[in-house]
Amino acid sequence: MTKTKIAPSMLASDFANLQHEIEMVNQSEADWFHLDVMDGVFVPNISFGMPVIAAMAQHAKKPLDTHLMIVDPDRYIKTFADLGVYSLSVHYEACTHLHRTLQAIRAEGMKAGVALNPHTSIKLLEDTIQDIDIVVVMSVNPGFGGQAFIENTYRKVEDLKNLIIQKKSDALIEIDGGVNAANAKRLVGAGADILVAGSFVFKSENPKGTIKNLKEQVA
Ligand code: DX5
Ligand code: ZN
Repeated sequence: MTKTKIAPSMLASDFANLQHEIEMVNQSEADWFHLDVMDGVFVPNISFGMPVIAAMAQHAKKPLDTHLMIVDPDRYIKTFADLGVYSLSVHYEACTHLHRTLQAIRAEGMKAGVALNPHTSIKLLEDTIQDIDIVVVMSVNPGFGGQAFIENTYRKVEDLKNLIIQKKSDALIEIDGGVNAANAKRLVGAGADILVAGSFVFKSENPKGTIKNLKEQVA
């Protein structure tokens, strides 16, 4: 069993001091950078896009875990591969031909992820779980950082873990939204492999220490 990964969400970082924030994550015990791309259509918010990710990539020394909250993500798969991102997660709800999209992501050399909104059942992944590297279970409605964790997530993670085992898939389970020291351990117990944390890390007094504590909690 590999150790739980921590992926700070840069959405909650200080954009006016992005290089400083990236260096903090580089020096911390975090495993990945989590990058939230929002288009103002799939979600009611706009975050940042390719030029900002290109700038981040120049300083980041850990894998870029990219979460696309955009409609028709197929348009930009190659663009994100060229930016050097490690994993590309698309939303189940935004893909008409999910299987094709997953194949296209892997063909570009990236890990293929699928994010599920809180209302989307994990049962819908029965026929694609073997083609997925990461399932991002949204534990808030996507679009904003700093929202409250949805309790139903625990059961969803347990069901997903069972599906992964049953289908002999290698998919990792990532939890995104409202993750903090109060729910991290239980999420890992339910089957989570990667924890995204935005506000909990960046709005704390000592972000590097917060990452360390989170990591120790789930070790
Ligand atoms: C929500 C994003 C999350 C968000 C998490 O749409 O996908 O990654 O930044 O932020 P917190 O940890 O503050 O809920
Ligand atoms: Zn995210």
